[in-house]
Amino acid sequence: MLERLGKMLGGKQEDTTSTTFDDKGVIPHHIAVIMDGNGRWAKKRNLPRIAGHHQGMKTVKEIVRAADAIGVGILTMYAFSTENWKRPKDEVDYLMKLPQEFLATELKELMERNVRISMIGSREELPEHTLKALLEAEQKTKNNTGLQLNFALNYGGRVEIVKAMKEIADLVKAGELKPEQIDEELISSHLYTREIPDPDLLIRTSGEIRVSNFMLWQLAYTEFWFTDVFWPDFKREHFYQAIADYQRRARRYGAV
Ligand code: IPE
Ligand code: IPE
Ligand code: MG
Repeated sequence: MLERLGKMLGGKQEDTTSTTFDDKGVIPHHIAVIMDGNGRWAKKRNLPRIAGHHQGMKTVKEIVRAADAIGVGILTMYAFSTENWKRPKDEVDYLMKLPQEFLATELKELMERNVRISMIGSREELPEHTLKALLEAEQKTKNNTGLQLNFALNYGGRVEIVKAMKEIADLVKAGELKPEQIDEELISSHLYTREIPDPDLLIRTSGEIRVSNFMLWQLAYTEFWFTDVFWPDFKREHFYQAIADYQRRARRYGAV
């Protein structure tokens, strides 16, 4: 809290000018984002879909800055789903190059901002160059203590749960675990997000009202916020609007 206040008062004042949320209210600790609408943004302009992805990368920079400026703890960005391999090869190839491109231009600023990067998702199917860039970013930023920026890449909520179930079954089979020891905490500890608390707020852009296999287990009590704005058009003010709306909600977790 003090750290956040300090951040807002010291040095980064310019970052918070368009703030519409209550800066004394609760800032969601973990915000997850389904960045959607890049293709339609491009189509509307008669551009190839990859132009939308390129523009979308600029939004990522902007939102990372916006989150950092107000002391969001964790930002998880859905960048590529396990289903996105079904897209045309040139589009997939381009998306697999984006992490390198993003990190090549942004890693310096991310280091200055004390951002810690990590990747969630299945690493096995990723091209070597994509994985290399991500591992390097994870390695370089691993001691940073500011915003944690997770990229969900080749991420699928069901695949994640299947992987956890297999690991747990193996432990039972090996006699290291009794079935009665399986509980929510144990399952959580076998997910990609084992070290990350569940999202407080989920944002999805582009007017689609679905989760598309994102964090199925973790979203159990997350607040959802949708906007028709395409991801490349999504700005800091939209992000802060989502937070303002979040602050007006009552999270009951089943209680009264
Ligand atoms: C989101 O934009 C980016 C990824 C899924 C990789 P889309 O590429 O899904 O854009 P639309 O939904 O086709 O407009
Ligand atoms: C979800 O968007 C995946 C990402 C944003 C990375 P999609 O565009 O793939 O989702 P659907 O196909 O519309 O459900
Ligand atoms: Mg889409």
